[in-house]
Amino acid sequence: MVEYLLQVSRISKSVHDASGELSILNDISFSVSAGETVSIVGASGSGKSTLLSIMAGLDVPSSGEVFVGGTNICKLEEDARALVRATYIGFVFQNFQLIDHLTALENVMLPLELLGGPGASQARTRASEMLGRVGLSQRLNHYPRFLSGGEQQRVALARAFVVRPKILMADEPTGSLDHATGALIMNLIFEMNKEFQTALVLVTHDAALAARCSRGLTIEAGQLKDQR
Ligand SMILES: Nc1ncnc2c1ncn2[C@@H]1O[C@H](COP(=O)(O)OP(=O)(O)OP(=O)(O)O)[C@@H](O)[C@H]1O
Ligand SMILES: [Mg+2]
Repeated sequence: MVEYLLQVSRISKSVHDASGELSILNDISFSVSAGETVSIVGASGSGKSTLLSIMAGLDVPSSGEVFVGGTNICKLEEDARALVRATYIGFVFQNFQLIDHLTALENVMLPLELLGGPGASQARTRASEMLGRVGLSQRLNHYPRFLSGGEQQRVALARAFVVRPKILMADEPTGSLDHATGALIMNLIFEMNKEFQTALVLVTHDAALAARCSRGLTIEAGQLKDQR
């Protein structure tokens, strides 16, 4: 049997609110192998971010299973799920999500500290090397508010890659950036993905970006429509 890096099996998600049950995702299945690049496109509200959050173990499905490196993360308690996430998955958001009161360097050191692997001085070295890789060696001690949007997203990329994840999940990583800055960030993502042999799952509204991925998935109203 082929062991997939990521396997999504019959995921559905619905929520209950005052007006009754709302179905967000409906019976979605697909797999991602090591090193693959997969785009997810679909209209606003179709369920892309919800799907990505469930795949990363940030949210739980109503039914179905998600296997990350062969482990069913839906069966795990929050802490164990967080550990699988920290080990396997780097995540980049549209709005960067850096921690305001930490410097660029401290933001990038954080996942290493959470994993409890290297000691503080080694974490510092690895984080500053990764910030160098994204072109920010002159910004180590800057707080996020003193960084441009593109620079903040570079810090977020360094934070995602510093643990050498097997898979990078990116939810519209260029959605808050101007076109030229967004293009630089995407080039960096594809470059680093290759360099660190990371698989990529990219949610985007940009058809040209989706076309740069080796496979493409389309979601329509919570259902997987096309696969290429
Ligand atoms: N916790 C929740 N409670 C109620 N409704 C929710 C919840 N989370 C998501 N939804 C709804 O589920 C649908 C899918 O949301 P989601 O954020 O996944 O869409 P999306 O495809 O990422 O959209 P966009 O392209 O605008 O980012 C939306 O209609 C949203 O309002
Ligand atoms: Mg979204």
